[in-house]
Amino acid sequence: MAASAQLENLNQEKQLAAAVALRWVRSGMRVGLGSGSTAACFIRLLGDAVREGQLQIEATATSLASEQLAREVGIPLVEPRRGLRFDLTVDGADELDGDLQLLKGGGGALLREKIVAAASDYLLIIADSSKEVIKLGQFPLPLEVVPFALPWVLDAVAELGGEPVLRMHPHTGAEPAHSDQGNLLVDCHFQVVSDAPALAAHLKTIPGVVEHGLFLGMAQAAVVARGTSVVVLRP
Ligand code: 5RP
Repeated sequence: MAASAQLENLNQEKQLAAAVALRWVRSGMRVGLGSGSTAACFIRLLGDAVREGQLQIEATATSLASEQLAREVGIPLVEPRRGLRFDLTVDGADELDGDLQLLKGGGGALLREKIVAAASDYLLIIADSSKEVIKLGQFPLPLEVVPFALPWVLDAVAELGGEPVLRMHPHTGAEPAHSDQGNLLVDCHFQVVSDAPALAAHLKTIPGVVEHGLFLGMAQAAVVARGTSVVVLRP
């Protein structure tokens, strides 16, 4: 299949997964809004439902891009505050395995995504079929890193057997990319993550690593579109 047709199919799958995820939303809910292209499909559909008066919700976004989109489509936003919890968060993923272990952060929003997921009673992942894997790790694992710590973080990742690559600005390619928090992003190529909990625990001990993209034991369900059908996966 030509690459453009494949991309078009994946885009249709993202749209389908997002449309099915809308069934999880009830009026009165506080909803966490994920980041990335699949989450953007969901935000647009949720915005349609809000503007048409079918759903009354309030939301918090996991990135500046999702926040801007939510405003554009008319979703009321609430700022983080003590005691704030989300009934439901809907987010995408770069990889998900059969236990709903996730690798996230391809869009660089892993820190806020994990903060919102941790404050959520229910994390629903939406994904096209390309995201399903047997083992995590083919997609490089992102880390959000304090700039001063970068050289030592690169050394520590190499010691763990990964190949760390500093993410560069997607448009210029000439300077490092920065997260919404002003930190650096390091993509770690492990090829395969055989023990995700052990790797996650190791990464947490590296000074200067603010967050990593392994989301373990966090998702309650995933809506995965496979062609024109949808499966709901649970851990
Ligand atoms: C951003 C993320 C995204 O959810 C992930 O990259 C998937 O993005 P897309 O839906 O565009 O494939 O973790 O930090």
